[in-house]
Amino acid sequence: MSQQGMNAALLKRLVLCLALLLLGGILVARHLGGGEHGAAASEPPPGAAQKLAAQPAFPSANPQFIPPPSIYSGPLFVLSQNYPTERPNTRPDFLSSDFKADWKAYMMKVRDYCFEGNLDVDFRVEHNKTRAWYHMPWQDYGPQGREGIHGLTKEARVQVQQLASSQTYNNGQTYAVGFFNDLGGYTIGQVWADHMNPDPSKSSRPNGFPIGTVIFKLLFVDVPPTQVKSLTNPKQWQAYVDTCYKAPCDPQQPNNSNNPRVLKQMSLIQMDIAVRTDDKQAPTGWLFGTFQYNGALGRPNGWENLIPVGLMWGNDATDRGDTYTQTSFTGPNDQTKINPKLKETVINDDPNELPPTHLGWNGRLNGPVDNPVSSCMSCHMTAQFPSYAALNPSFLPGPQTKRGSNFWMKWFQDIDCATPFGNYLPPNGAPQTGLNPSPLSTDFSLQLSISITNFCAANPHAPVCPPPAGESEDASDKAAVILGGARPRARPRAKRAVVHPIVRDVPESRPNRR
Ligand code: HEC
Repeated sequence: MSQQGMNAALLKRLVLCLALLLLGGILVARHLGGGEHGAAASEPPPGAAQKLAAQPAFPSANPQFIPPPSIYSGPLFVLSQNYPTERPNTRPDFLSSDFKADWKAYMMKVRDYCFEGNLDVDFRVEHNKTRAWYHMPWQDYGPQGREGIHGLTKEARVQVQQLASSQTYNNGQTYAVGFFNDLGGYTIGQVWADHMNPDPSKSSRPNGFPIGTVIFKLLFVDVPPTQVKSLTNPKQWQAYVDTCYKAPCDPQQPNNSNNPRVLKQMSLIQMDIAVRTDDKQAPTGWLFGTFQYNGALGRPNGWENLIPVGLMWGNDATDRGDTYTQTSFTGPNDQTKINPKLKETVINDDPNELPPTHLGWNGRLNGPVDNPVSSCMSCHMTAQFPSYAALNPSFLPGPQTKRGSNFWMKWFQDIDCATPFGNYLPPNGAPQTGLNPSPLSTDFSLQLSISITNFCAANPHAPVCPPPAGESEDASDKAAVILGGARPRARPRAKRAVVHPIVRDVPESRPNRR
């Protein structure tokens, strides 16, 4: 190559190097966020909503629990998940009526609101022409997860004689599905705006479900309807469920299991409602009510056999008695035990309408398939993430807590909506301090806390999830490993708070605790 050619080549290279250096400089400046222009360019224009990348859809059901086409060809459950991104500004009409003045009339208005547009489409809400309803994501996950026909999740066991003294079946199971109106759906959408990192601060103070949120839940059992008088003329849904609550289903064959699932006719037993109200007579901001199926009424449309059991707006925090608690029906004269002294629960006292039913602790409101030493509000006000508290003190391992003791009564306070429950310690119920991360309320929604708990079981390293037990909580330890540095010496780890299973009854590991 000639001298001239060499110079030209060098010059070219020099220009190329300079260009690369310049480009590199710009990139470094942007990366460090140093340049004013770089920073401004990455900020959204004022007023624009923060846009997240397109989100993958949540699955509707657990794929294992979708019945194969060889045995089922009907419609399948579709998760309603187009949550409103703007807060809806109309509230249900019934919200402005006085729930105490005529509680039954109030509950019938809520029932109508839940039924409208849903009865004609069998609660396949994607076809509802009257109003939108939404489902909670992440209820499909795990062995209790949503089945494929109606999206039912597996719930508590139905104990022998729980529904009536004539009920001998002892391996019964409850399955259920819940629905949220548009105001409730808005909060689900806020918490779950990022499908890979839910944000429970959106359901905790100063946030929470908006006033006017309505949630309802339909509950079904597989107890033979012939064993319970109120289940005559049953209203049934076909569902893809376990053969019984707990294998072996046939006591004669101890090795038979619950696999695979089977198609069963499940009978409607209960419908729960929860309403977020601004009525000053409601100390927690929530109302909980329930309806019980009474087929003996023989109404042509089976759904209308759902009769109001009662309504509760508080936990009667000063009532420590136990005389009205009824854990099962053992005698032949089944009867509802109504506690006339309660001030924040009202129960239907018309035996022609309401079949004999057990209630909650000392007569507080609970439904026929609910735990008889709890109450709707008692259980639901523990809803938080992480779930540091048991849903009822009777679910705790160790010696049984005395009902009515100071510790027990922590589960029967009136806690404000969207306020984290935290946890309390035996024997006197001192608040547990130092919970890390701090709990955030899921505003009385146990499905919402289950959704995040399930998400974390599948994605333990997502930012919202507490570090899994046994892993280092110190980020510098992880960094050292990633950078190939010396492994830090093992050192004693801070004691981690226990996280409790979110279940409707005594956890399977601790049975016989009623
Ligand atoms: C022992 C605890 C317990 C009791 C008592 C209880 N529930 Fe629940 N409830 C749950 C759990 C757990 C869930 C979430 C899983 C599911 O959908 O069943 C739930 C879900 C619900 C939902 C769906 C919304 C949500 O995310 O929480 C409603 C509404 C509801 N219950 C109402 C009631 C009413 C009304 C009563 C009383 C008649 C009641 N519950 C009694 C544990 C309980």
